[in-house]
Amino acid sequence: MEMDICYGGVPSKIPQNSMGIRGYDYIEFYVGSAKQVAFWHAKALGLNIVAYQGPETGTRDRVSYLLSNKHNMKIMITSAIQPSTYDVQSFIHKHGDGVKRWCVEVVNVNETYSKAIKNGAVPVTKPYRLEDKDGFVEQAAIRLYDDTEINFINYDHYKGLFKPGFEEPFYNFEIRREESNLKIIDHIVGNVHVNEMDYWENYINRSLDFETFIFFGPGDISTKYSALLSKVVRSKDSVIQNPINEPFDAERQSQIEEYTQQYHGSGIQHVALATTNIIETVANLRANGIEFLDAPPKTYYDDIKRRSEERGGLVTEDIDELARLGILCDIEISSGGYLLQLFTKPIFDRPTFFYEIIQRRKGASGFGQGNFLALFEAIEREQARRGNL
Ligand code: FE2
Repeated sequence: MEMDICYGGVPSKIPQNSMGIRGYDYIEFYVGSAKQVAFWHAKALGLNIVAYQGPETGTRDRVSYLLSNKHNMKIMITSAIQPSTYDVQSFIHKHGDGVKRWCVEVVNVNETYSKAIKNGAVPVTKPYRLEDKDGFVEQAAIRLYDDTEINFINYDHYKGLFKPGFEEPFYNFEIRREESNLKIIDHIVGNVHVNEMDYWENYINRSLDFETFIFFGPGDISTKYSALLSKVVRSKDSVIQNPINEPFDAERQSQIEEYTQQYHGSGIQHVALATTNIIETVANLRANGIEFLDAPPKTYYDDIKRRSEERGGLVTEDIDELARLGILCDIEISSGGYLLQLFTKPIFDRPTFFYEIIQRRKGASGFGQGNFLALFEAIEREQARRGNL
């Protein structure tokens, strides 16, 4: 029986933070063809299309597919269907397919939004109400990196499927695939330009009353060729965790710099999805055709075996099985737990956005610091193939 909490903080109807944030709600992608990207999330990532908005439901300028599963982990995929759908068209024209916004569920949208603005957040959308026969949903948005947003949302007074404008999907196909059993969004990572990390750290901490949890300075994260700086900001109850990366000078182009060049701006680099059985999840995602970064060499796993044994057999998973699936393992000195994780290759055409699959074991609270070298060397092999290293 799996007894671990699978993420840093437990989302709660009664928040333990000053902003009334209950937890991550959903991320929304703006893409060229929502139908195709929704299909990928269903067929490969193992989610179900549960709600749809488009011309059939009275929305003339865009289509959105909401994907979810029995654990209520939500991802939305949106495309423009008119040249004049400016927010979507301008976003993908510049950035390609990517994450436009992440949404957090809050107790009171008006209160969270007013506090954020008073604390220095840049307003994007003032609180407003979407209504239909099933009640109402309230939303508001503040600015994040470049064209990215943070949305606040509340569904307490809504009994419908998702929110007004959405209906049962018309997209009816039979999906054969293996189940992924993804539980929740664990963390969301931003890549920003040189000298922007501190700005966004301060912005998020001030606006949302978050705190800086970890800081990786010059020399902490580097390979032979490239380097980066990273800070993790989080809500004080850890339900929201957001690492922010910035490129740092090195011999060759940093992977963060490759991102900001290819994305043409700062934005979301990856979203980590938590499972409570990473071996099963990754085996199934591989069977579904998802491409992951190359596995580290055998010596990496020999080292994990030795360190696990030194700690009385800390890692209870079969380490040969982890090696076979290419799953990384970070034994954390600070928490005494360990973190299992694996990264997909970029899921769109540009080398920008990717997913992380993560499992936190025995109280692990970090982000895989011990794996940075193995991970970044794997990313650099991909960068070199693209001619961007
Ligand atoms: Fe991550």
